[in-house]
Amino acid sequence: MTRTALVTGGSRGIGAAISKALKAEGHNVAATYAGNDEAAAAFTAETGIKTYKWNVADYDESAAGIAQVEAEVGPIDIVVANAGITRDAPFHKMTPEQWHQVIDTNLTGVFNSVHPVWPGMRERKFGRVIVISSINGQKGQFAQVNYAATKAGDLGIVKSLAQEGARAGITANAICPGYIATEMVMAVPEKVRESIIGQIPAGRLGEPEEIARCVTFLASEDSQFINGSTISANGAQFFV
Ligand code: CAA
Repeated sequence: MTRTALVTGGSRGIGAAISKALKAEGHNVAATYAGNDEAAAAFTAETGIKTYKWNVADYDESAAGIAQVEAEVGPIDIVVANAGITRDAPFHKMTPEQWHQVIDTNLTGVFNSVHPVWPGMRERKFGRVIVISSINGQKGQFAQVNYAATKAGDLGIVKSLAQEGARAGITANAICPGYIATEMVMAVPEKVRESIIGQIPAGRLGEPEEIARCVTFLASEDSQFINGSTISANGAQFFV
């Protein structure tokens, strides 16, 4: 069945792979982006997927953007809260600004992306909320007190939403990617990245498409009983 899907941060990295995979499943997809107009235009030209620019950290912008997507593309049945940033620093050097930027985007951004679509999902008795968390929300990470806090918070969000949405046909699940070959991971100093790859039993970084595959599985009609769970996709780097 064709549904309308919203993917935040959906024009680059893991989000771009998710947007494409949902489109390939036959869904109508809208992708948001925060600032990179050029990348978004190139993504739309390549895929035909519409892109919308707003800051997920801002509730009013998110609500207005979602209303526009619903008017232009359709009522949102699948929301993938994927947009995220890093501001890595050892804790003794982490500034309040770095803390708040990451909390606002990665954690409050999930609230802002799901809250406006939730009433419609409840009314239509169908919804798929999929939050892209991280291995670092499960195990913590040196220099990521801010990021790990948000990604652990994602798991609390989906477990709570799952209980609230279950009777209304809504599922909420998280995916915890390990280290995936994206710009975010490539921004880690090379020496550190090499040492991280050394800790992955698969011996390689993951591919964005391997995360997108988890999303299409959770988004499908017959995943109704999978609710409040976490899929780890990390090449055996960490087990919960
Ligand atoms: N474990 C233990 N020690 C570490 C470490 C680690 N993972 N990474 C760095 N260190 C140590 C360094 O060896 C160095 O020690 P010495 O002072 O004894 O030499 C010290 O920490 C670094 O201190 P600096 O003052 O030089 O640190 P800095 O202010 O320059 O910051 C950094 C450097 C930001 C920590 C940088 O090393 C870095 O980016 N590390 C990677 C952090 C990381 O893994 N982020 C994940 C990004 S990918 C992602 O987030 C996606 C996802 O979901 C998986």
